[in-house]
Amino acid sequence: MTDQAFVTLTTNDAYARGCLVLGSSLRQHGTTRKLVVLATPQLSEAMRKALETIFDEVIMVDVLDSGDSAHLTLMKRPELGVTLTKLHCWSLTQYSKCVFMDADTLVLTNIDDLFEREELSAAPDPGWPDCFNSGVFVYQPSMDTYHQLLHFASERGSFDGGDQGLLNTFFSNWATTDIRKHLPFLYNLSSISIYSYLPAFKAFGANAKVVHFLGRIKPWNYTYDPKTKSVRSEGQDPTMAHPEFLQLWWNVFTSSVLPVLQQHGLVQDPSTYLTVLSDLVYTLAFSCGFCRKEDVSGAMSHLSLGDFSAVVQPFVSSEERKERWEQGQADYLGEDSFDNIKRKLDTYLQ
Ligand code: UDP
Ligand code: GLC
Ligand code: MN
Repeated sequence: MTDQAFVTLTTNDAYARGCLVLGSSLRQHGTTRKLVVLATPQLSEAMRKALETIFDEVIMVDVLDSGDSAHLTLMKRPELGVTLTKLHCWSLTQYSKCVFMDADTLVLTNIDDLFEREELSAAPDPGWPDCFNSGVFVYQPSMDTYHQLLHFASERGSFDGGDQGLLNTFFSNWATTDIRKHLPFLYNLSSISIYSYLPAFKAFGANAKVVHFLGRIKPWNYTYDPKTKSVRSEGQDPTMAHPEFLQLWWNVFTSSVLPVLQQHGLVQDPSTYLTVLSDLVYTLAFSCGFCRKEDVSGAMSHLSLGDFSAVVQPFVSSEERKERWEQGQADYLGEDSFDNIKRKLDTYLQ
């Protein structure tokens, strides 16, 4: 089945982690189809190489952004304008049929039977079930459809500012015309619905095939503690009513993705950070005259590798990062790392 593919998308290194987990989960469940990821130039070179180890094709595309902040604000998701980049998936005409899957989905079983469906098959959106959710859909690549979609986007825009609004208006007969194009909800089970209809989840959830971590907080935004092999609970999303799925995502991440990231220099050994961080704190605190030498030494003696045991730190937007920084929750192992702080200090000193 080399002319059929699962297709996903990432515009940055954070969502790429999701793609790697999704790709690994599809492989683990023995898909016979090709795996393709669409990526945009913002992706780092190292991450592109990491994606190549799991995907058959990494295809570079331009960012398509609706720039429609008014509608995106209504969803409280200003970052989703770039999801129009998804439209590029129709241009993959080397394939006769594809299944698009968001980077925040995880496959729990083999779902190759989806290729028996026709364009456009998708599951209902949990927020408005007369619309389909565009996190998982079956489609047929075609340059004709691709150009029609681009034209449609420029003429009519999207009612949500992202791809889902546009696709629902374009494939507007989905809700009423052909029930075979309604995928069972089990092919796109969003964590939000578990929270909003728990009894249904208890009754049917065991048959789930795809979990969709829909919403602002993604699995990679959590902190994973390799010591306890668990996701840290503080600051957890209250709607994440089924932490087992989150744990499952992290299991795939640690067993199949982390080794690939390490191999490509995309995560580092926390002990390195402990040493450089202690040096930095000591030097800054003492030399700036904020504290007495004994206080600093005393505080430092309490630091242990355990404090920095989260090998994998969450990815957050620069705005969220600023907020967290202002609340004293600096990301010492990631963006606010020693190297980055030092670079910033150097520019001020110069
Ligand atoms: N996406 C991306 N970069 C972004 C935002 C979104 O690559 O900054 C892609 C990614 O494949 C993602 C999809 O667009 O899964 C849809 O966005 P998201 O999953 O965040 O939307 P949600 O399902 O939470 O509404
Ligand atoms: C949704 C879908 C996502 C889509 C976004 C923007 O909630 O889950 O796939 O990108 O809306 O339209
Ligand atoms: Mn999604």
